[in-house]
Amino acid sequence: MALHVEASAPSNIALIKYMGKTKTASNTPANASLSYTLEHLRTFVRLERGPAGWQPLEGYDVLQLSEHGRTKFLAHFARLKGAWKIEGEFTVRSANNFPSDCGLASSASSFAALTEAAYALARKQHPELEVSAAVRARLSRLGSGSSCRSFFTPWALWRGETAEPVNLPGPLAHAVVLCEAGKKDVSSSEAHRRVTSSALFTGRVARAEARLEQLTRALRENDWREAFELCWSEFWDMHALFETSRPSFGYMNAGTLAVLARLRSIWQRDGDGPLVTMDAGPNVHLLLREDQIARAAEWLDGLSVLKSWGGAK
Ligand code: DP6
Repeated sequence: MALHVEASAPSNIALIKYMGKTKTASNTPANASLSYTLEHLRTFVRLERGPAGWQPLEGYDVLQLSEHGRTKFLAHFARLKGAWKIEGEFTVRSANNFPSDCGLASSASSFAALTEAAYALARKQHPELEVSAAVRARLSRLGSGSSCRSFFTPWALWRGETAEPVNLPGPLAHAVVLCEAGKKDVSSSEAHRRVTSSALFTGRVARAEARLEQLTRALRENDWREAFELCWSEFWDMHALFETSRPSFGYMNAGTLAVLARLRSIWQRDGDGPLVTMDAGPNVHLLLREDQIARAAEWLDGLSVLKSWGGAK
């Protein structure tokens, strides 16, 4: 048997958010979510025979996992070893191909890549093993919920136990306006717990489900303005839940608000602009149609942007 396997998986950005769980232990979401897969923002995982533990993978941006992050990651590997009867001790090495200090969530790509690497290893040990992407996604979800959407591209829909591809227009280009680097005070797992304490959580599931239906229709009908309005309402809905949780918390800073104001005035001036969304962090994510890329230079002029036009040819 070869001494190592390697795999990678992409990150994804949700337009309808996974926020709130019905079952914490299995990361079962309160509502369905819809995401666009970010093929160019990836985590690489290498499993090599050796002492059990985690190490950074050389050759990429050096990633440091916190003690808690390491424990969660290695617990997921133990789960995968059990599920697929992987024998032996392995060192798990991982790294991202995007800067780890830019405040971008890497848990989706990390857990998906670890699941894929463990699957490659299991297939070496048990060549007859065959597990569909849907089942691999289901296992990956147990490690971190949003990772189950990274198994499908370019669009993924996740409802309950099931993530699947969904046919919507693309490709789209993606960029992140960096408003702050650094560690978050409240992890997304903690955010999932806290939002249920907000008075605004009442009705949240129905709002997200209604928006999901409206957004898929708007995207299908190429109603870009309607798609923008829905994405805008959706991330504000999630951030309002954060701010009104008990105790309250939040991720937006002065830079975030300035960027959001600028993007809204672009839409008001041009009647056009990017789709805008935010995760549990201060950075602003943009999705653009291919025909908007030329204009994006003006829209983003002077901002600190991680551009990844990889999705667009
Ligand atoms: C705000 O998947 O990181 O990015 O399942 O607890 O690991 P756990 O949470 P995680 O939550 C991501 C939340 C989000 C919205 C989203 O990606 O849908």
